[in-house]
Amino acid sequence: MDDKKVTAASLREKKERGEKITALTAYDYSTAVLLNEVGIDMILVGDSLGMVVLGYDWTLKVTMDDMIHHTKAVARGNTRALLVGDMPFLSFTVSSEDAVRNAGRFVQEGGAEAVKIEGDEEIAETVRAVVSAGIPVLGHIGFTPQQILGYGKSKIEGRDEEALEKLINDARALEKVGVFAVVLECVPAGAGARVTESVRVPTIGIGAGVHCDGQILITNDLLGLYEKMKPKFVKQYADLNEISRKAISEYIREVRESKFPDDAHSYHVPKRK
Ligand code: KIV
Repeated sequence: MDDKKVTAASLREKKERGEKITALTAYDYSTAVLLNEVGIDMILVGDSLGMVVLGYDWTLKVTMDDMIHHTKAVARGNTRALLVGDMPFLSFTVSSEDAVRNAGRFVQEGGAEAVKIEGDEEIAETVRAVVSAGIPVLGHIGFTPQQILGYGKSKIEGRDEEALEKLINDARALEKVGVFAVVLECVPAGAGARVTESVRVPTIGIGAGVHCDGQILITNDLLGLYEKMKPKFVKQYADLNEISRKAISEYIREVRESKFPDDAHSYHVPKRK
């Protein structure tokens, strides 16, 4: 494994070399350590925190303070990956000044090295302000969960030619104001390919097909730790909930039967010589 620190610039070089970019979410120290051990390129402290850790139905209740708290924990376990903090609902839409201030908190308080901002070309001037302040920005287009109240439900974007044109324009507008990469969420695989070849910055797909320059998933989905929702794009690589249920049930049984703790897990007074 190459243990050179990943930066926003090195991800762009990966696209130029035709190497795929790997990304996952983390919300705590232990997961950050694990992801670094296996060589992930980018860690996103996603506002999916709201659902998979805090138990909300969507991301809208997640606050800047929630995000900073968890970004700090992830930063303590991060060594190699590029650490990106996800700007939560209303943290960048009130004004560009507010966006720069909040993005700055991710870097100064949280230890993030970049921020993610959801939104189409309408958000371009805000992105420009954050990039100008010296903070790398990851764009996020296609389905943007912070707009869920407007959408009403999750939906696939870019299905017809007009919608695809809009997606390409959004990606280009964000590239123009300096994003280092752009997340493409819930778009047909063909649209993912078209957007990817239309911009020089890497595309990171989530439900956007195999032709994106990289992929991201929510770690809790990949590991089978979150069962409330399972979008089509989620591939579950392990069933850690089932493994955990078995382990915890065994613990409960052993405690009830006075089998735990056994001698090997108990302290004893050393025998006198
Ligand atoms: O909040 C999140 O985890 C995200 C990813 C799914 C891209 O935005």
